[in-house]
Formats: sequence, structure tokens, C-alpha cells
Amino acid sequence: MSAAAPEPKANMGQPVTRYDAVAKVTGGARYPSDQSVDRPAHAFLVMSAIAKGRITELDEADARAVPGVLDIFTHRNTGELTKTEYKPGGGGASTSMQGFGPEIDHGKQIVAMVVADTYEAAREAGYRLKISYAEEAPTATFGSPGADVKDADPEGSEETKKNEREKTGDADAALASAAVTVDAEYFMPTQHHNPIELFTTTCVWEGPKLTIHEPSQFVYGLKNNVAKRLDISPDDIHVVSPFIGGAFGSKAQMTPRTALVALAAKKIGRPVKLFATRDQGYTVSTYRAETRHHVKLGADEKGKLVAYWHEGQEVTSRPDTYSVSGTEETQHLYHFGAVHSHVDVVHADRNTPGFMRSPPVVPYVYALESALDELAVKLKMDPVELRRVNDSMKDSFGKEYTSRSLMACYDAAAERFGWSARNPEPGSMRDGDWLIGWGCATAVYPTHIGAAAVRVRLNANGGVLVQTAAHDLGTGAYTVIAQEAADRLGVPYENVEVEIGDSSLPAATVAGGSNTTASVCSAVIKACAAISSRLVGSSAGVAMGGNLGALFQQAGVSQIEEYAEYVPPGGSADAIAKLSKGQPTLTGGGSGEKLMYALGAEFVEVRINARTREIRCPRAVGAFAGGRIMNTRTAHSQLMGGMIWGISSALHEETEIDKKRARYVNDNISEYLIPVNADIKDIDVIMLSEEDSEVNPAGVKGLGELGNVGTAAAIANAVYHATGIRVRDLPIRIEDLL
Ligand code: MOS
Repeated sequence: MSAAAPEPKANMGQPVTRYDAVAKVTGGARYPSDQSVDRPAHAFLVMSAIAKGRITELDEADARAVPGVLDIFTHRNTGELTKTEYKPGGGGASTSMQGFGPEIDHGKQIVAMVVADTYEAAREAGYRLKISYAEEAPTATFGSPGADVKDADPEGSEETKKNEREKTGDADAALASAAVTVDAEYFMPTQHHNPIELFTTTCVWEGPKLTIHEPSQFVYGLKNNVAKRLDISPDDIHVVSPFIGGAFGSKAQMTPRTALVALAAKKIGRPVKLFATRDQGYTVSTYRAETRHHVKLGADEKGKLVAYWHEGQEVTSRPDTYSVSGTEETQHLYHFGAVHSHVDVVHADRNTPGFMRSPPVVPYVYALESALDELAVKLKMDPVELRRVNDSMKDSFGKEYTSRSLMACYDAAAERFGWSARNPEPGSMRDGDWLIGWGCATAVYPTHIGAAAVRVRLNANGGVLVQTAAHDLGTGAYTVIAQEAADRLGVPYENVEVEIGDSSLPAATVAGGSNTTASVCSAVIKACAAISSRLVGSSAGVAMGGNLGALFQQAGVSQIEEYAEYVPPGGSADAIAKLSKGQPTLTGGGSGEKLMYALGAEFVEVRINARTREIRCPRAVGAFAGGRIMNTRTAHSQLMGGMIWGISSALHEETEIDKKRARYVNDNISEYLIPVNADIKDIDVIMLSEEDSEVNPAGVKGLGELGNVGTAAAIANAVYHATGIRVRDLPIRIEDLL
């Protein structure tokens, strides 16, 4: 694996060292649970043993007798917590199931929280709580008794319904008359977040003021939603989250735990610190629900697509309609001719799913890109050429891309990979006992853009301070924000100090949908231009570093501070005010007049042992185009990490569900398979130069969620090439290839 940062090409920033690198490797980075608070009490969650039914008896006597126990919070003494509305779009509560009993709505629902002087005492008391249940038979997943199938988008009018928008032409007729067709079903399993940093919450009250230390992808959302739960003013809440140890979508919404900890801290009159244990995290936060896909493709003899038909089903909880509805993105990917798509949700007795890295595209692109490979096989056509024939700056709906470098990505990756040496015949490439398979697929992610406010201060000595309530999930936000300010003000990167992850700072977008760099840098550009205007009478962002002192003397000030709000075109005038109230709005992707997408091409080699069917992935090459690359080091890391996650999706990950009890079986990182170093060999990331001035002022498309899209299909396609066996049900395991 190459460790060095790639040399920047045109429209790429320098691979400066991460802003937070030293703090992170020396332990100086204080994650929310590291914040020292005065005399904290420690909390331990108790989770329901059943998935559906009710608590019939709750005996606290033994638990309360444990020395050091301060209080036990259950449905009996938490009734004052107001229920808040569930909004699947983000920024709100992660679930409408916000109660702690006696009704049980899903497996391992929080039913009690013990608070004690020590963590050990809280845990001991948690185990001593005696809870009896009246259990009902729960619905676990697709096909379980009681599974309730509904339209994923029932509310929209006929004009605005997602499912109605996603049709053009007559796909059924086009399929009936197509020269070549594919008709197949694909399945992607449940996946769970396992960020290294656990789901923690620490609450501290000072009079009416509440400080919450919690890892968050949206501090303004958390602040406003907890205020609703506690029925207090959001002005009385301060959320602090300067570092986040991985999130991937799991820390974007308010989970039921936060208000519970806040209430407990208030009642016992001491700060309370909660760690959900690693297994509890599987139901404390959200996850990627299992999806089913029925895909039909039709093409002429030359491979030109005439129809794309895709119906999806996604599992959700009993009360909440969460769906990723990825056909909204896949429908734009090629010129398909006629398009038909529809998505249903299947309600089961499960915790509500939610965002997980590249939510819509990971499952839906897996299905589409697998089907395209099946079509290429039927056409006896090279899969790269099949994509080329259907590549188009305009989609089937007539919408045009602002920029689209898909085939340039394919060509660059194919060359690096050595694709021209591929013998298309399945099973034909062999190295001793190892069957070799080569496969490829497209990666795509919508370029999202949101509103953001920043404050930038430039001092006469060249020091810069940037403040904004953005978030760094480990992705490099600190670094690229500092780089943008340094570039625009013409000062060295080392001069810039960045403060983010705090709800007392100017409101900024949710760290979701890979929009942080684009949105926040666009606001930084605006603020820096205003500073430049005041200092040199031009907003052009000239290099002011050399003669700053003189310029400030001329201006008669020692520092200049500018506050700027960036609202994307088409965004509402009150977008920042809404953000401050915890309501984010993301636009872009396929939603506007033009199509805005980052694209890539991924190639993988698999080696399958002819005797044992052991599956290895010794190399993967990805080429990506995402507009301006702010920093080739952090971008490279995001893309490489994404591809590793893609390999994980293809060959390792699955949350197993007990179909009878609707509970997760392998709900711990110790049993949830992810790749280790020995599973990952060469990951080769190529970043293509691409310029796009239409997407946003920063010219950035966003890369955080691009790399892990397409990898699973590329591997499934490579497995077919190695063996002639088409596996349509992830993850691909030895038993699928016997
Ligand atoms: Mo990401 S799933 O948009 O946090």
C-alpha cells in the first residue's frame, strides 16, 4: 500500500500535514468523552431482552442496593421528556421510538439507565435490575410474518412523488422489444457502524445552562432537538464536539440517549457521563438496512441501453419510514433510454435505520453495476466498452452534467490495472491453484451543497482564525478549511487556526452527504474576499502576506474580522436562520437544473483458491474525479479508506438477524467481520484533474463517500470472471462458490 501523498496535479492543493495530526497522535486531541468534568457520575444503559411486547414487572430493589448507585431512570421517572418529531431527512431525531418502556418496539431498546458513583457500580446495578416481559412474536426482516410493505414516498403529490419523477418513457415496452435483456435480483445485507469512538454523552448543568459533550456530525441539530426533548430554550444548550472518532452517518442525528443523560444530570445535580458499550451501539444509533433489488436492463446488439427498470425494497422500523431510495441517483448515471423505478419500505420490529456512508448509492449502484456486468457478458462485450457506449453528458431525462469524467476515470484505471490483458472467458485466467478474476464498476456520489456561516479574522502579524460550527469526522475538515483560508489570504498554512465542532460558533451545515468541504470552503472564500476588499480594495484574494504590516498600518487597524454566510444558489434566503434552528438543507446531485456528481471507476483482482474457494482481493485500482482536490493527502486517504470499506461490503460485512427474535446476533466488532491488514494488499488511488466552476465557488465535489461505491459490484463481477458463478447476495463467501 503506498503511503506517500500523491503529487498534486492541476486544480489540486498541496498535501500539507493534517491540521490535527500532532494532537491526534500525542493524545492532545480531546474527544467529547475525554473532557474532564467535575465529579462525574457514571451511567450504564440497560437494554430490552425482547423485540416486541411490554415490560410487565420492573424490580429495582437489588439494583438500588448496590453501593454507589445514585438513581435509576426508567419509563417511570422520565415522563417529562417531550417526544420530538422524526424526520428522515436528517438534522432531527434518529427515531420516533423515544420512550424507555413499558412498550417495547425493537430489540435492545433502552429500558433503563443506572447512574452511580462509578461505572462499575452502575454496570453491576444494571445487571441486577429484574425485568419481566410479555413477549409478542416480532417481525424481523423481509418475508417475516407481519412485514408491512408500503410505498417509500407516500406523502408526495403525483407531481412531486419521487417514484413518479423517476420514470421516463415506457420501460416495459422497451424491455419487451430489446435485443438483449437482463432480469435479476440482488441483495445487500444489514450493515452496522462500528466507529472506533463509542457513542458517548456527557452532560453538565450550570443553573439553567446545559453543556453536552457528545460526538456529533451536526452540533446545531443536536442542540435544537435536545432543547425540544427537555422543553427548554436552545439558547441554554451548548454542544461541544471538537473531535469525532469516526461517524459515517451514525452521529448525524439525535439519538434517545442524549436527553436521558441530560435529565439524569439535572435530577441528581451532578455531571453524568455515559458510554454505550460497543454492542449497545448497534441499537443506540442507526445502521444500513438490508435492501432487495429487482433490476431489468434492455439494450440493442451494440450495447446501447434502451431501458433501466429498478424496483427496490428496504427494511425500516415499524413507525418510521426511512429509505435511501437510491434510484434517485442511479437513474442519472448513464443514458438509459426508458427508466422505471420504484422503492418500497418494509416495516418490521427493528430500530430505525439511518445514514451510513454513501447511503443511497452503495446498495443501488451495487445492483445496477452488477446487472451491467451481466449484460456485458450476454452481449460478449467488454464491460468498460459497455459503459462507454452509454456514457452521456445528458441523462435520459434531458438533464446535463456540470462536468463528467467517468470515461477518463475508466481509461486511467484500466491502464494502471493492465485491463487490456484480460481474457474475458470466465475461469480462463489461472495462477496455479488460484483462479484469477478481474472486474470493474462505476463509483458515483452526488455533489451536495449546504449553507454555512463562518467568521474569519486576519491579524496584522499574519495570524488567521477561522470559526465555524463545522465538523471533522477524521476526514480532514480542519485541514482543508485552514488551507482554503491560507490560500485566499496569502498567508502560510501554519498561520491559520481553525475552531469547529461547537454550537457557539457560526452555524454550519450538517457533516453529511459529503458536503462539508464544498459548503464551508465556499463560505471561507466569501469571508476572505471581504477581508481582502477591506485591506487592498480588491476581493481577488491577492497574496497579502509580504506587506501585511504596512497594509494594516494604512488601514489603521490591527485586525480585520469578517463574518460571511454562504447560501447555495436556489437555497432559501433564511437558510442560515434555519440552520441555526437545526434544520439543514442540502441541494445538488440530481435535484437541481443540472446534474452534479463526482465519479470514478474501480477495478479489482480477486484470486479464488480452486480447491478451498478461499477468496482474496490482492489489488484494487480506483480512478476518481471530484472537481477541485483540496489536499491530495487527505483526499487519497478518504478514497483509499472508501475502497477498503467497499471490499469489506463485498466479502466481509453482514449483521446477522435472528429471524425469530428480531435481534442482531453478531452485534459487536469482535463478531462483525471487517477486513484486517492481511485482507488488504494493494490499493491504488488515482485522482484525475477536473475543473468545475458550476458546482460551487470552491469547485469541490466532495470525496468522503465516493470511494466505497462500486467496489462491491467490481468484486462480484471479478468473482464471476474467476469462476463463472454469479453471486447476487452479499457478502460473497466461500460457501457461495462451492
Ligand atoms: Mo454520511 S452517511 O452522509 O454521514
